Amino acid sequence: MECEKIRTQIERIQSKLGEPENKQVESERSGMADTLDEFVKNLQNQILDETRAAYGDTAFQRWLKPLYAGIMDSADGYGRVPGSCGDTMEIFLKFEEGRVKKALFQTDGCGSSTVCGSFAAELAHGKAPDELVEITGERILNVLGGLPKEEQHCAFLAAESLQEALNDYMIKQAKKERDESGKPCAKKR
Ligand code: FES
Repeated sequence: MECEKIRTQIERIQSKLGEPENKQVESERSGMADTLDEFVKNLQNQILDETRAAYGDTAFQRWLKPLYAGIMDSADGYGRVPGSCGDTMEIFLKFEEGRVKKALFQTDGCGSSTVCGSFAAELAHGKAPDELVEITGERILNVLGGLPKEEQHCAFLAAESLQEALNDYMIKQAKKERDESGKPCAKKR
């Protein structure tokens, strides 16, 4: 019983002692959270400003919102190329009546590779095979308005993956044509 009384007394004292301290801690915590939020916001703005300055506006917008990202089931043409930097780019093509109806890209690489994959896929839309071969790394760089020198290889990786996907499509087409032409003819009498 005595123990119970002592414990209650201790709890009462602790709660009294704790009150002002808790409030102070609370307000310090909220002050720290505000400072941290402010810091993160400033850092984000700084990254955005630096990225816009490095990429230019066209590529920057695509960096913020990459178009044509994703994977495709049963693509007519598929290309996957690992870059010398260790990143990989994949391009998926769907054809209709000899032209690209849909193109998607996927990469595990940097922001520049995302921008380049996105432009490679965009440029591929509506193109016939002989037009697709004209989509080179230089062309991608021109369309997106250039990249910092050390990241230009991302455009060549995207172009190479696109050409790989085209190659895959052409091989499948040739096989299809060969299979069709090799079908046994009706017996002549
Ligand atoms: S693709 Fe490797 S750094 Fe961009």
